[in-house]
Amino acid sequence: MIDTVVEAGSDALTADALDPFIDIEEEINRLRREKNAVILAHYYQAPEIQDIADFVGDSLDLSRKAAETDADMIAFCGVKFMAECAKILSPQKVVVLPDREAGCSLEDSCQPEDFKMFRENFPEHMALSYVNCSAEVKALSDIIVTSSNAKSIIDQLPRDQKLIFGPDRHLGAYLAKETDRDMEIWPGTCIVHEQFNERELVKLMVRHPNAALSAHPECPESILKHADHVGSTRSMLEFVTTSEGKEFIVATEQQIIHQMELIAPDRTFMAAPGADGTCNCANCPFMALNDMEKLYLAMLNEAPRIEMPEDLRLRALEPLQKMLDLSPATPDSKQASKSVAA
Ligand code: 13P
Ligand code: SF4
Repeated sequence: MIDTVVEAGSDALTADALDPFIDIEEEINRLRREKNAVILAHYYQAPEIQDIADFVGDSLDLSRKAAETDADMIAFCGVKFMAECAKILSPQKVVVLPDREAGCSLEDSCQPEDFKMFRENFPEHMALSYVNCSAEVKALSDIIVTSSNAKSIIDQLPRDQKLIFGPDRHLGAYLAKETDRDMEIWPGTCIVHEQFNERELVKLMVRHPNAALSAHPECPESILKHADHVGSTRSMLEFVTTSEGKEFIVATEQQIIHQMELIAPDRTFMAAPGADGTCNCANCPFMALNDMEKLYLAMLNEAPRIEMPEDLRLRALEPLQKMLDLSPATPDSKQASKSVAA
């Protein structure tokens, strides 16, 4: 697998050598101005990162922002496949990721050599790949999708077109059902959504009979079957802040609740439970690797930085660009947040 992350040089400032008295927020703001940087953050990032970001969004909105920004640097607070998308779409920009180990279990589950062999078994099939995969797997795919646009993109394809979907088997099963299509599905899962527990969820729903359940389609069917709403992180945010009702159970990474509380402080949001009913399992350990100090150091050192061979970038760009061309327009989520809160 090609390593797309360039480490900081030996002369770079490290966390150990960082002056503990500096105001990290002020320093990030200074670098943002001096380096003409934009800070993009996924909803799963820690609240302080969401708060300092120029834009907070789901995978699709973040890709769009990365494609259209005129900044010289993109500080991508999310996981590696998201920062790779930013680099694929904006090759002339410096794209930094606060922690090089911020990966994704779905990406890990689908190694390019294995995916290539899987594809070869189905020569007549079109390969739709969920954006949560490596640049190399994207380069082996026909169209990339996110949870926000997958259904609409599939609906635009001819009914007789045979499909492969990877790497998330729960999202694949959900899409196969929603679009009424047979698909050959790669068996990967998200370690976060996989851990929600149906029995504990039902107990929580019984204790809160008026609470609506919003779930991400990476959840297993045993969770999705109880949901009042299923959608991408942005769609979940919209549902719980605009639909009727005051109590919501949120079946996705729980840092998104920060954004929900900012927009709708009068509502109650509960993280969906895991197996023992109290566990902290709705936390993505990859997303949690990023913090404010690492963000500052990445902007200062311009590393960890995403770089990839140009031929790989061009091969991955093709299915990613197809996705953007086939995606319905969506509102700017920070704007949407403001208008909902007003
Ligand atoms: P979204 O595209 O809904 O933001 O999801 C990304 C993700 O990694 C979910 O686990
Ligand atoms: Fe990957 Fe799951 Fe983390 Fe999303 S929540 S980045 S799918 S491991």
